[in-house]
Amino acid sequence: MCGVREIRPLDSTEIDSVVAVLGLARLHQGDGMYLVAWHGREPLGHAHLALTDPPELQDLEVRLEHRRRGVARALTAYAENEARTRGFDRLRLGVSVDNAAAQALYRRCGYGSAGEAPIRIQGTVQLRTGPIEVDDTILVWEKRLRDSAP
Ligand SMILES: CC(C)(COP(=O)(O)OP(=O)(O)OC[C@H]1O[C@@H](n2cnc3c(N)ncnc32)[C@H](O)[C@@H]1OP(=O)(O)O)[C@@H](O)C(=O)NCCC(=O)NCCS
Repeated sequence: MCGVREIRPLDSTEIDSVVAVLGLARLHQGDGMYLVAWHGREPLGHAHLALTDPPELQDLEVRLEHRRRGVARALTAYAENEARTRGFDRLRLGVSVDNAAAQALYRRCGYGSAGEAPIRIQGTVQLRTGPIEVDDTILVWEKRLRDSAP
């Protein structure tokens, strides 16, 4: 199986084909954009880049059969570049204490603790796909996107 061929921001005409295979859980969040990795007409994975201050990488997801081929790493690098282009000097994300795979990925991409206390999330979270019950502890990590000024 081939790796990523193209990453681009999600166009409204592509929503149906992405939603058929991936969550797009934050589609209507309204504060950023989805980035989608494609192989031809086939969506491989997505990430939501919230253009908050600091910006945040969210809902990174790669289809099971396309994992461990660098798709998430490519999506993360694309999101970093988008944030950098908009003048941001860091990209933030939240990762579950129990998600060893995602932590390994983010560490490999250069992320580390943002120095903030973990966030405890308990209760019902509303997603595009419907409400889900959550009981989790989220670590706040970030990566600096450019060197500090001399
Ligand atoms: C986490 C996830 C996004 C990784 O996607 P991926 O495309 O398989 O990741 P990549 O191929 O880009 O991995 C890059 C590096 O991250 C690390 N990594 C990724 N998945 C890993 C795993 N399951 N175990 C250990 N390390 C892992 C490795 O260092 C890997 O490099 P390598 O394959 O050369 O060893 C994917 O497993 C996924 O969609 N999981 C479910 C959703 C999720 O947990 N999202 C993260 C929310 S914070």
